[in-house]
Amino acid sequence: MIKNSFFSLVCFFSFCAIISLNSCVSNNKEVLFGCDSTQVKYTATVLPILSNNCYQCHSASNSPTLGGGVNLEGYNNVRNWVNPNNANGGILLVDITTGRMPKNLPKLSDCDIAKVSNWIKNGALNN
Ligand code: HEC
Repeated sequence: MIKNSFFSLVCFFSFCAIISLNSCVSNNKEVLFGCDSTQVKYTATVLPILSNNCYQCHSASNSPTLGGGVNLEGYNNVRNWVNPNNANGGILLVDITTGRMPKNLPKLSDCDIAKVSNWIKNGALNN
């Protein structure tokens, strides 16, 4: 009888441990499985995010017809739409944080938004 209730207790605690571990994993998926938003650079980090999600409308050639005339190809053009001196980081960051951009498409991942945000906070350098 004692052995039996000890066993139930162990089962109960293992169950709790599994449940809490599981919620921890799903809340921090990106942290645990590799969202490193700390080492962000324009060329290595921001450019691929923009070319994958924005160039279909905001490349030099597509922007006149599909991107409302907003060209986001090349550092200088991107720099016009971000502002490290403004608390909100500029229009581009507001647009991706609110999900207004990419227009009529799913919002960027939290990880990608954090990367762009950190790049701007670090001065939006051409690095
Ligand atoms: C399907 C086409 C499309 C995609 C994809 C798209 N945009 Fe836009 N974007 C537009 C259009 C069209 C405008 C012109 C304003 C409007 O219609 O809202 C615009 C305007 C903008 C502006 C100018 C400021 C403003 O809000 O009007 C910025 C900055 C911008 N987009 C950033 C982005 C970024 C960053 C991405 C990628 C994460 C992106 N856009 C993806 C179509 C798009």
